[in-house]
Amino acid sequence: MTPELMEENARRADTYRAAHPNDTGKTESGGRAAGFSRLAVAGEVDVTHGRILYLEDVSVSFDGFKAINKLSLDIAPGELRCIIGPNGAGKTTMMDIITGKTRPDEGRVFFGSTIDLLRFKEADIAQMGIGRKFQKPTVFEQLTVFENLELALKTNKAVTASMRFKLDSNQSDRLAEVLHTIHLADSVSRQAGYLSHGQKQWLEIGMLLMQDPKLLLLDEPVAGMTDEETERTAELFLSLKGKHSLMVVEHDMSFINTISDIVTVLCDGSVLAQGTLAQVQSDERVIEVYLGR
Ligand SMILES: Nc1ncnc2c1ncn2[C@@H]1O[C@H](COP(=O)(O)OP(=O)(O)O)[C@@H](O)[C@H]1O
Ligand SMILES: [Mg+2]
Repeated sequence: MTPELMEENARRADTYRAAHPNDTGKTESGGRAAGFSRLAVAGEVDVTHGRILYLEDVSVSFDGFKAINKLSLDIAPGELRCIIGPNGAGKTTMMDIITGKTRPDEGRVFFGSTIDLLRFKEADIAQMGIGRKFQKPTVFEQLTVFENLELALKTNKAVTASMRFKLDSNQSDRLAEVLHTIHLADSVSRQAGYLSHGQKQWLEIGMLLMQDPKLLLLDEPVAGMTDEETERTAELFLSLKGKHSLMVVEHDMSFINTISDIVTVLCDGSVLAQGTLAQVQSDERVIEVYLGR
């Protein structure tokens, strides 16, 4: 199916460019975007085939070592997919590939059924609505919770960090909603540096939510959290399910148990098993490489 979709994708981009000869691909804010990524941002991600993310036979090697090896996987719109697997399985590398940080040697990676992610740069992919949360919290410690969320609305944080701008009423509403979602409504004017580790993680998730991503990739979000913070994070993720599609990499099995529908087990760069947590936990191969350690 996908080669045809790739052609369709290219055709649509050409049609768009022919109809909009003056479109240089520049965003209003002066940011950079490919002509077709503007189309992707303006339109909706095409999920009529029931997938928001689709990877097929993806491989990447680092110095001859296959970190990702013929990996195929897809995620439904609104799904909360959990990914588990031993260290070195390729979980983070998979996220690097989806977000354009790492180029695979081969394979196909689609956002919806028409957007070939391998044609885009990391910044364009983020703009299209794929948000990523790295393991360590990266909030602006010297700014307040409010200012961090406000800042997240700007595309280029580094350049515009010192500039003030006013939120419109939609943005204010969203900010209030996000504050509530991430359990930080009571800490709105606190400096982020004084938040607990868990609260910083929530704030960073809130910063991603400000951009209303369609797909959120979260790499070990509860690592280092207290039990209570972990429970609240589970509630948070369950509340995001349906509104966003989520891919969550975690080692914490009780957390996975609380939030998961389908669990994918990665090992040696490809899918070893997939199913409910109970199903994969009783799979001999999974026990051998991961759970039974
Ligand atoms: N940029 C890189 N250069 C070389 N090796 C890498 C690079 N990124 C990841 N690897 C290797 O690829 C394998 C998979 O790593 P990673 O995706 O981080 O696994 P996981 O997140 O599942 O623990 C590991 O063996 C790691 O050392
Ligand atoms: Mg990792």
